[in-house]
Amino acid sequence: MIYWLESVDSTNRCLFARRLPRWDALVAREQTEGRGRRGRSWESPVGGLYMSVVVENDSLLPLRAGLAARDALQPHCSERIGLKWPNDLLCVSGKLGGILCEIDGELAVAGIGLNLAGEPPIEGATTLEAAGGSLPPAADWQVRLEPLATAIIARLRELVRLPAPEFLAHYRVHEQLLGQPVAWEGGRGTALAVGTDGALEVRTADGTERLHAGEVSLA
Ligand code: BTN
Repeated sequence: MIYWLESVDSTNRCLFARRLPRWDALVAREQTEGRGRRGRSWESPVGGLYMSVVVENDSLLPLRAGLAARDALQPHCSERIGLKWPNDLLCVSGKLGGILCEIDGELAVAGIGLNLAGEPPIEGATTLEAAGGSLPPAADWQVRLEPLATAIIARLRELVRLPAPEFLAHYRVHEQLLGQPVAWEGGRGTALAVGTDGALEVRTADGTERLHAGEVSLA
């Protein structure tokens, strides 16, 4: 079941507070205190999709949620949508969306934020519209967002069933860092692969390193 809210502080926070069953979801028209990765905020004006889904936790969940959002959004976008480990959705024109997975006890939540229309909320961001895409027009925001929200959940349900190696074969096709020179806090190297635990494997001058979290950019 999908619950729709005009405005909420954070769909992730609200979903934890409600203790909803697995595969229930919350979608908000705007968030006033949207959460981003690494303690950052996520600007969430009207015009985006802000959605949280209750899921079963696994180490590949952020990657599975990113690929689900990518696959559901791609048919609406003329630019190719790629992924940047661990969970950014990117177009040539900038960052289109991000994923924040959070865990509280038994409950895991996949939070998905997509910039769809209006001004890009921050520098370096883009929107579906700016990338030459759009969702079909509809009488109101819920009717407009429902097919996309439903498609993301349906795709995520398929992807969580895949064993890690099979999932990663799909993921790899869209991961933009692989084979590229990359830099992160404390190192540089060439991104080689994503492991079955979700780590990014990087070849450095001293050997191989496995990155489990953090910010990695093209060098
Ligand atoms: C990132 O920093 O790239 C991840 C951003 C994730 C934002 C989404 S919007 C829906 C859900 N609720 C939140 O408060 N954050 C996530």
